[in-house]
Amino acid sequence: MPEVVHTIAEVRAAVDVARAAGRPVVLTPTMGALHAGHLAHLDAGRAAAGPRTFTVVSVFVNPLQFGAGEDLDKYPRTLDADVAALAEAGADLVFAPGADEMYPEGGVQVRIDPGPVASTYEGASRPGHFAGALTVVAKLLHIVRPDFATFGRKDAQQLFLVERMVEDLNVPTRIVEVDIVREDDGLAMSSRNRFLGPVERRRALALSHALGAAASAGERGLGAALAAARSVVADAEEVDVDYVAVVDPHTFTPVPDDHRGPVIALIAARVGSTRLIDNARFRLG
Ligand code: PAJ
Repeated sequence: MPEVVHTIAEVRAAVDVARAAGRPVVLTPTMGALHAGHLAHLDAGRAAAGPRTFTVVSVFVNPLQFGAGEDLDKYPRTLDADVAALAEAGADLVFAPGADEMYPEGGVQVRIDPGPVASTYEGASRPGHFAGALTVVAKLLHIVRPDFATFGRKDAQQLFLVERMVEDLNVPTRIVEVDIVREDDGLAMSSRNRFLGPVERRRALALSHALGAAASAGERGLGAALAAARSVVADAEEVDVDYVAVVDPHTFTPVPDDHRGPVIALIAARVGSTRLIDNARFRLG
């Protein structure tokens, strides 16, 4: 079983021992309710840092990144099951702080300004979300001081902004990108999938199908890729699309009509009362 600690002092002490023994430290930040997509980060971390890796997983549902009326209270909290899964996956240390430990004054005065990309796509429907997410990531990086930290491509905009933060603010941690882990039928794994009823679960496949259609049409350019994705979701019952977009991976802004080269296609939609996101990387032209 990994050691489970709840305070900043304890996590720092445990990491210091590992570092003194010459072990590279990898941090995987999570909000818990772990699934195979999260557990894949442990393998990715070890692949990047080597067999002596000391793997730290944080489990913290960060109030700062939830807006009013979002699912903070409803967000699943399953620490015992998470620790059991992390034991199986070979984690060395679990950092599961309470909100009082991370925010002793109830919040922060100073936070990370994530810049213009943070008010688009996920940020447009969730104002303040990325400032809250980057602020807790910055805190975790300062608490653990890892050599590597893993982030999933599932949250492509978050990954982009974390990489920008690390670059812009000279954070001495290397970011490891982890591919999207999917269910057998293609649904991207998410802690929120447990809220889908059986009918919604089937309808949710429209997201990955739309991205697959966009990728297949990608050879014919942007217009064809967007049209293919939109026609899949237009035909899907009870799937309320928030956005479908194709962005440049280097800027996270929409690509021009004649773009050729690597892109990320993004989709967000509400299926019943559950908001889901997914994305796919492919080339246009
Ligand atoms: P959470 O949603 O718990 O996700 C934790 C990490 O797992 C993120 O890097 C996310 O991109 C990754 N992840 C989620 N689903 C995945 C999947 N199907 N395949 C691969 N990786 C997946 O993202 C957060 O928490 C928070 O914003 C956090 C970074 C912890 C800050 O609070």
